[in-house]
Amino acid sequence: MLVINRPTEMQAFSKAQRAAGKIIGFVPTMGYFHEGHLTLMRQARARADLVVVSLFVNPTQFAPTEDLSKYPRDFDRDCRMAESAGVSVMFFPTPEDMYPDGYQTTVSLGEIPKVLCGVNRPPHFAGVATVCAKLFNIVLPHFAVFGEKDYQQLLVIQQTVADLNMDLEIVPGPLVREPDGLAMSSRNVYLQPEERKQATVLNRSLRHAEQMLRQGIHETTKILDEVTALIRREPLAQIDYIELRALPRLAAAAARPRGRHLLALAVKFGKTRLIDNTVLDFKGTT
Ligand code: PAJ
Repeated sequence: MLVINRPTEMQAFSKAQRAAGKIIGFVPTMGYFHEGHLTLMRQARARADLVVVSLFVNPTQFAPTEDLSKYPRDFDRDCRMAESAGVSVMFFPTPEDMYPDGYQTTVSLGEIPKVLCGVNRPPHFAGVATVCAKLFNIVLPHFAVFGEKDYQQLLVIQQTVADLNMDLEIVPGPLVREPDGLAMSSRNVYLQPEERKQATVLNRSLRHAEQMLRQGIHETTKILDEVTALIRREPLAQIDYIELRALPRLAAAAARPRGRHLLALAVKFGKTRLIDNTVLDFKGTT
């Protein structure tokens, strides 16, 4: 596996590969890999001639209250894991390479960032959209894979790519869970043992909502009330939001929704904020 640091070198490499007719798949990341990241890399590998992974802990998407310097990092381990997943190139730029002195351009987003994870972290999604636009221009991929774990992020990127006529396909990747159901996240390492145990309620509450839908309970408030009650049973859980929103624009759900909806939640355990979601399909319900 090749490690490339400079954006210009990365661009030159990708241009040469494209000229040789190779299909480039891309997985942007902030590192500290787990099976969720590796699944996206393998998915990219299955339909590309070569896979580029970027590892960049992007400062512009962190809130001032979040400690960027404490984000978990292990470059050597990440390289070994990426290589084992069939990755050809690790693009690993410095913050100075990505945001040199005098940098001033940002992608400005419309409605999608005003809800869910955007409410308490206003500049977060603009930071994500901007760094992804830059990465797409540097890596020049034919397609990029984004995990459904960060569903709102996936929607933001799909919108940005469509609105700005970017010439690549955005491919969704499945949400990967630990054996006990906790959604994999680089941030899970922050959880204390008791917090880690109680955090499994998130997956259980989502499965409960799916079960309610199967049993014919289709009222938004009933579903949200039961999910909330389940999570409140865990004393360490502090709910940030639990919401049902219509796909793909994330409009508020009707009292009796129709069509595909995202049931999304963000809950803090101690200092660690976890997010999780499931898609509920109200198709054919009345
Ligand atoms: P990061 O949190 O490292 O995630 C990189 C990719 O892995 C994202 O597409 C994310 O959705 C996916 N991912 C994380 N956990 C997953 C899981 N349990 N199952 C499936 N996919 C999972 O998301 C970012 O980095 C950044 O915001 C980035 C897009 C790189 C921009 O800086």
